[in-house]
Amino acid sequence: MKRIAVLTSGGDAPGMNSCLRAVVRGALAEGWEVLGVRQGYQGLIDGRMDPLDARAVGGIVQKGGTILGTIRSPEFKTMEGRKRALENLNKNKVEALVVIGGNGSQSGAYELHKMGFPVIGAPSTIDNDVPFTDITIGVDTALNTVLNAIDKIKETASSHHRAFLIEVMGRDSGYLAMMSGIAGGAEFIVIPEVETDMEDIVESVEDAYRKGKAHFIAIIAEGAKPGTQAIADYLRGKELGFEVRMTILGHVQRGGSPTAFDRVLATRLGLGAIRELARAEKGKMVGLIRGETVATPLEEVTSTKKVLDLQFYRRAQVLER
Ligand code: F6P
Repeated sequence: MKRIAVLTSGGDAPGMNSCLRAVVRGALAEGWEVLGVRQGYQGLIDGRMDPLDARAVGGIVQKGGTILGTIRSPEFKTMEGRKRALENLNKNKVEALVVIGGNGSQSGAYELHKMGFPVIGAPSTIDNDVPFTDITIGVDTALNTVLNAIDKIKETASSHHRAFLIEVMGRDSGYLAMMSGIAGGAEFIVIPEVETDMEDIVESVEDAYRKGKAHFIAIIAEGAKPGTQAIADYLRGKELGFEVRMTILGHVQRGGSPTAFDRVLATRLGLGAIRELARAEKGKMVGLIRGETVATPLEEVTSTKKVLDLQFYRRAQVLER
């Protein structure tokens, strides 16, 4: 192998840069050249890739976002777009590609693999919804960002005796809501994976008030049904004892310097991707499974849905007292 390329794709996640650095330096140590593709798969289609040396990835291990840029590319979803991407890879004499990204990005990697191009994936998304890895790059940082916000909101909520609805990211995944709710001591957690009755929330608020709690905190995932606004409207029409306020945390959860955990995880997965390529493996994604970096065929990764630990979700309800 002489030359590989690397790209970051989909929603950015803290630690993408740490992973990129590991991929580049790991590849250089193998004696390979590395091209960095700008703006994810769209950069492949447009042929935007530049050489990355060791210095190009210096000073980025602690930086949030991705220095390569990222985009959700609708064009890559077409065969036409993917053919152009492949042409550009061949034109630039690239022999393998590392894709750092979430589920959509791993599906894109699998498409290239099916077209005969060697690809290895590394999972990154704050949603932690990629299968065959216990945790994805960026989750730990996002979780800590959310916790920081919950702790602050609790202080003002207690001071005013208010009920707060805090919306966290996760269109399809309740991982961030569940874990931040548990670690933040929330009174109620609403996730997309579980249907929630409005009256159960009302009951929980009333219960908190009756027990003499100074506040009520609900963590609601972005994709939950009912959604945050609907819950706020419903609660505001009731006599609950607590006044209701709502905070949508939004993209603040995607930024920020990666935690030590995310930097180490990203580094392990980046080096793991290079290890797989050096072994002439292809069409796989490297994840962290029970403490080990394990490569799983993209075919399995893209055909499996990661399931949230709902047993833990239910068990944790005993804490809401
Ligand atoms: O997939 C990560 C994520 O942050 C989701 O939690 C969220 O629903 C989505 O991306 C938001 O995407 P965008 O930044 O494109 O609006």
